[in-house]
Formats: sequence, structure tokens, C-alpha cells
Amino acid sequence: MTARSAPERRVAVVTGATGGMGRVIALELARSGMHVITVARDPRRAASLRDQIDREVGTGRLDVVPGDLSRRDGVIDAAAAVLARHSAVHVLVNNAGAHFSEHQLSPDGVERHIAVDYLAAYGLTLHLREALERGRARVVNVVSDALRDTRQVKLLGRPRPATVSTDGLDDLGQLNPADGFVPFQAYARAKLLTVMAGYDLARTLQDHGVTVNAVHPGIAATNIIDDLVPPALRPFRGLIRRYMLTPEEGASAALRLATDPALAGVTSRYFLRDVDTRTPPVSYDAIAQRQLRATSDRYFLPGRPR
Ligand SMILES: NC(=O)c1ccc[n+]([C@@H]2O[C@H](COP(=O)([O-])OP(=O)(O)OC[C@H]3O[C@@H](n4cnc5c(N)ncnc54)[C@H](OP(=O)(O)O)[C@@H]3O)[C@@H](O)[C@H]2O)c1
Repeated sequence: MTARSAPERRVAVVTGATGGMGRVIALELARSGMHVITVARDPRRAASLRDQIDREVGTGRLDVVPGDLSRRDGVIDAAAAVLARHSAVHVLVNNAGAHFSEHQLSPDGVERHIAVDYLAAYGLTLHLREALERGRARVVNVVSDALRDTRQVKLLGRPRPATVSTDGLDDLGQLNPADGFVPFQAYARAKLLTVMAGYDLARTLQDHGVTVNAVHPGIAATNIIDDLVPPALRPFRGLIRRYMLTPEEGASAALRLATDPALAGVTSRYFLRDVDTRTPPVSYDAIAQRQLRATSDRYFLPGRPR
């Protein structure tokens, strides 16, 4: 039997594939027969991913689009590069994510968690929309259960969900301000926005056969964890890592949403690994979702009448 030629392969776009769980997701999707595209800001880490896919799956199975997803132009240019090569996209895994222990602004003046952990996923989905519709794609947003509980140490007390003020949704600059900045809460708020926008996108795209779901992968031993472990526990990082999921175990939750035939047509859900779970009430508020969409569209499509 001859291998299918590249243009016939189903296409998966996976962000954050140069490390951690994204690397496993990209590798496994390639292994399943898909052509994988990733967006990478570090050429050396991208080359290492390519070597692994070449070696373990076969050559010509990965395209790397250079880009920094914290930048608006990085997101727009990455989508354009995908569309230049492929008219249809069948899977989009918005997996890239980061945690910043200090308040920082992106080059576009947006707090960095908002830029990387929310806007990158929203912008790629927005700009790839027609290709996603042609592919009747599954969009999987990798978020974090921090959105349901922002406590890093959960020994006592009740969960403290991430918050977002509906008054602030018309100005991205008001999200995660420097005043009162708490890193883990800022990270969780950006993930909450991803879930919230995902519910809205799922509704919009449903008639076109596109599904949009979000998943918490579990606590996995990856690079992001080094920054997420509270300072008091950092000396025990090595020991703590041993009790975490491996990147392979963590990646399986997003892979299931991207590929499991049993989940065909399932949309607008949040999964705590494989458990369908409710998110904070504000995420279901249709008026807040519309406001968030308008603000995010203005960021990515300035000047477009709406
Ligand atoms: N690990 C956990 O316990 C855990 C728990 C809940 C949710 N998550 C979520 O799972 C996802 C995957 O994280 P991970 O644990 O696998 O962490 P990781 O090993 O740190 O991987 C993060 C990936 O995102 C990429 N990335 C970050 N900022 C980027 C930017 N500006 N432009 C382009 N790519 C960027 C990184 O690229 P570089 O290689 O260039 O750094 C890397 O490939 C994230 O969304 C994270 O929030 C993780």
C-alpha cells in the first residue's frame, strides 16, 4: 500500500508543540496519519521536534511556522502561513500557554497572560475560521482548572474560582492590570476567557460542523510547572514532579478530544481530563460572551465594521 501524499492528509495545527504536552500531541497526531503544523518562536526547539517526528513517524510530516503567539501580528501571520499551504484544517489544538510571575505587557500593550493564554487561541480560531469550516474541524483549547479554583495550595477552605468583571470586557487593557496583580489569578483569568469565548465560538461554528471544547490536562511535569510551583515548595520541585502526570499522560486528554470518534459532534464543553465539568457562572453569560467577542474581534480585525 502506498502512503497518502501530503495534500490528501488531514491537517492538524498544534500550538506549543516545542515542549511538554504539545510535543506529545503533535507527535501522536502525526503518528495517526495527520499532517501537523506548529507555530514556534524558538528555531532550535522546533528543529528538535522535527527531528523526532522525522525519526519516529516519517519525513515531511511537520510544517513549522516561525512566530511568537504573544504578538497580534504573530497570530495573524501564523494563520496566514497555514492558509497559504492548506485550504482545510481538521484539528486545531490551542495548547501554547505560559505563566508569568510578574506583570508584563505584550508588544501590543496587553498583559501577557491575556495575550498568550487567551488571545492566541481566540485569534488563531478566528483567522483560520474558513479552513476550520472546510475541515469540519475539532478545536481543542488546552486550559487549566485554575479557572475553577485559583488557590495554588488547596489544603483548607473552599475553591476560589477565577473572576472576570463584565464591566472590563470592552477594554483588553483593563484585564489583569498591574495594580493588585496576582500571577496565578491572572493566568486563571486568561484561561477562563478562553473557555468563555470558546462557548460563544462553539455556538457560532456549530452549524458549520466545527466543534470547540476546552480541557484541563491534569497536573503534568512540564516546564510551566517550574513557574507554577509556589516559591515555598520550589526546593522540593524534583520530588513534587514525581507525583505529577507525565507529559504523555497529560496530553492524552487533549488527544481524546481531538480524535476520539465517540466525541464526534460534542461541542461547547469543558473537560477536567475526561470528565465533563461546569465552569464558573460568568463563563455562560451570553451578554458577557458577546462583549468579549466584540473586544477580541476589534483587537484582531481593527477597522472591520461590526
Ligand atoms: N503542566 C500542567 O500541569 C498544566 C496544567 C494545566 C494546564 N496546562 C496547560 O497546558 C498547556 C501546555 O503546557 P505544558 O504544561 O506542556 O507547558 P510547557 O512545557 O511550558 O509548554 C508550553 C508551550 O507553549 C509554547 N509557548 C509559550 N509561549 C509562547 C509564545 N509566546 N509563542 C509561541 N509559543 C509559546 C512553548 O514554546 P517554547 O518551547 O518556545 O517555550 C511551549 O511549546 C498550556 O496551555 C498550559 O497552560 C498545563
